[in-house]
Amino acid sequence: KGNTIMNFQLTEEQNLIREMVRSFAETEVAPTADERDESEKFDRDLMFGRLGELGLTGIVFPEEYGGAGADYLSYAIAVEELSRVCASTGVTLSAHLSLGSNPIYLFGSEEQKKKFLTPLATGEAMGAFGLTEPSAGSDAGGTKTYAVLDGDEWILNGSKIFITNAGEADIYVVFARTDKNAEKHHGISAFIVEKGTPGFSFGKKEKKMGIRSSPTLELVFENCRIPKGNLLGEEGKGFKVAMKTLDGGRIGIASQALGIAQGALDATKKYVTDREQFNKPLTAFQGVQFQLADMATQVEAARLLVYNAAYRASAGLSYSQESAMAKLFASETAMKVTTQAVQLHGGYGYTREFPVERMMRDAKITEIYEGTSEIQRVVIGSNMMR
Ligand code: CAA
Repeated sequence: KGNTIMNFQLTEEQNLIREMVRSFAETEVAPTADERDESEKFDRDLMFGRLGELGLTGIVFPEEYGGAGADYLSYAIAVEELSRVCASTGVTLSAHLSLGSNPIYLFGSEEQKKKFLTPLATGEAMGAFGLTEPSAGSDAGGTKTYAVLDGDEWILNGSKIFITNAGEADIYVVFARTDKNAEKHHGISAFIVEKGTPGFSFGKKEKKMGIRSSPTLELVFENCRIPKGNLLGEEGKGFKVAMKTLDGGRIGIASQALGIAQGALDATKKYVTDREQFNKPLTAFQGVQFQLADMATQVEAARLLVYNAAYRASAGLSYSQESAMAKLFASETAMKVTTQAVQLHGGYGYTREFPVERMMRDAKITEIYEGTSEIQRVVIGSNMMR
């Protein structure tokens, strides 16, 4: 059971989803990707509304909650195809679905699923996830935001930083300490907070190296009162909610990294075919072909790890280890492949005339968010020692 891996044949449904998302990505998302990167513009209709119309915002959730009832591999393929042309659109879906919606599916009560998961799945509402704090990044157990129960309400105080989809999202899964005397990962609880709740506001918008058309903001809670019923899962068991959510989220980011790498490889293949030097196309040089061969091999290896983790998630097998491995390998592959893509484009690769410059900047974040590469090694290593 421990080493069960997927059947490598994609189903007809998975292939159809790839075709649909690829066609949408190429015709609608790609044309504005450079401009949105330059202007740091989040286009809600395109980057979220259209995803809802296509059934992607709730692709993995059951139809009774407004989802499409597809499997995790279909979701991975969708994030890959979006990220192949625009990593900002890819992470919008990943943060919404894996981080903002999935914990409600996994840990929510029936009432919470009806109230919050359904609009998230249909694309009526956008989701986000608030775990990271100024002094609690890799050390997620260092959460300082706190919540106290006052009658029928929880009162939240504190702040969260680097939150993807913040400002735009309507529903936030937020972590806060509910037991002031508990230490480390103990005494943390998960909550659902709606945009517009008094005492909940947005702070600084980050100016980033990459994924510039995806908004990243601070969340601020100042005596923010939310209904008692917005506690997600058991009181004091929020760290497990966060860890299980991140196990799934890492498949999303691994898929994003895979898409970026594939996009850079495709762009480079085209460039070296068109470009001539020393009176022949670059493809006529074996040194160039060898580089393409290495890039393609790494992308394919990343794909197999990502798809296997996604397959296991749908098959009900354990996938914490596999998703950490997939995220580690795919993100490092994205960085290597995009760097090589820029190199093969020469001087043009360093300019914004070609998409590989954006792709190299976008790739870097995949080695950082949802657990840095170092944290993935911590997860993999400690699973091995268990
Ligand atoms: N599933 C279930 N339980 C888990 C688990 C998992 N995957 N991983 C750990 N746990 C449990 C452990 O079993 C343990 O439980 P007990 O108390 O019952 O023994 C408990 O959680 C604590 O585990 P650890 O002692 O291993 O915890 P730790 O404090 O050493 O931290 C860590 C472990 C892996 C380093 C964790 O802190 C971590 O993942 N850090 C990185 C955080 C991260 O990825 N942040 C990204 C933020 S989201 C983001 O980037 C969003 C974005 O906008 C795109």
